[in-house]
Parts: sequence; C-alpha cells; structure tokens
Amino acid sequence: MIEFDLNGERVRVDIEPETPLLWVIRDEIGLTGTKFGCGIGQCGACTVHLDGKPVRGCLTPVSAAEGRKLTTIEGLGPDADHPLQRAWFELSVPQCGYCQSGQLMSAAALLSQNPSPTDAEIDVAMSGNICRCGTYDRIRAAIHQAAKEMNDGKGGLG
Ligand code: FES
Ligand code: FES
Repeated sequence: MIEFDLNGERVRVDIEPETPLLWVIRDEIGLTGTKFGCGIGQCGACTVHLDGKPVRGCLTPVSAAEGRKLTTIEGLGPDADHPLQRAWFELSVPQCGYCQSGQLMSAAALLSQNPSPTDAEIDVAMSGNICRCGTYDRIRAAIHQAAKEMNDGKGGLG
C-alpha cells in the first residue's frame, strides 16, 4: 500500500511500487488531465509536481510519492483559476491542447522558483516540454502575464 497526498487529499493505492505515477494518476485514481505523450521522458506531457518540483509521471515510480505531496493539473488552482491558467485562457494559448497541462505544471514550477523569468530563462525551463502545435510564443507571453499578476499581487515586486 502506498500513501501520499494528492491535490490536498490523502490517498492510498494498492499497486506495485514500480508502477509509473502517470498510470496511477490516470488509471487507478481517474484523474485524466495529466497526459501520456512519449512514455520515455522526452515530451513533458506527463509533468506533475512532487513536493512542488516538476517530475515526469511516466518515469517516476509511484513509490517515489510515498508520504509526499503530489500535485496534478487538477490541483494547480482551485476552480482552475491559478494566474497561469487565467493567462493561458486570456491569451488563447492552447491549440490542440494535448501538451498543455504539462506545460502549465512546468510553468508553475518555474514561477515558484523564479517569480520574474526572462525570455531566456523561460525557454530553458520549458525546453523539456514539447508542443507539436508550436504554441511556444503564446506560452512565453502567458508566463510573463501570470508572473506580472502574481508579482503585482505581492505589492508590485516585478
Ligand atoms: S509522456 Fe512522460 S515525458 Fe512524454
Ligand atoms: S497545443 Fe497541441 S501539442 Fe501543444
């Protein structure tokens, strides 16, 4: 039995410890916002947070989550109103949408470490997230917009 915090709720799963987190999240728990893209750690579609740090759900065994805080796109903001999600909506970032939950989770991890990233810093932080639709310019703009909102909310720090 493996026990962890998922989006603020305690969950227990009875499963082989080496099962990838992505399978547990989608198939065992039924949260389907996190996507399967490549399955080999190359695309970022499966990005989730473990204790606030981005990890690849397709490569991370569920045993790594034991006793830790796992956050998926469903838990990023209550009512999907994280500043990044609002910026994504306002700037119409997604095209097909398949990569976007992974993009948002990587962007959220970036802003938690670096509240005012430059274009170059965004490009480095987001380089592991592939978008076949080529939404990179809008992703960058939305990260800047969300960063500004978050910094203004803290008293105009950025
Ligand atoms: S599905 Fe995990 S990195 Fe592509
Ligand atoms: S929006 Fe289609 S793959 Fe990114």
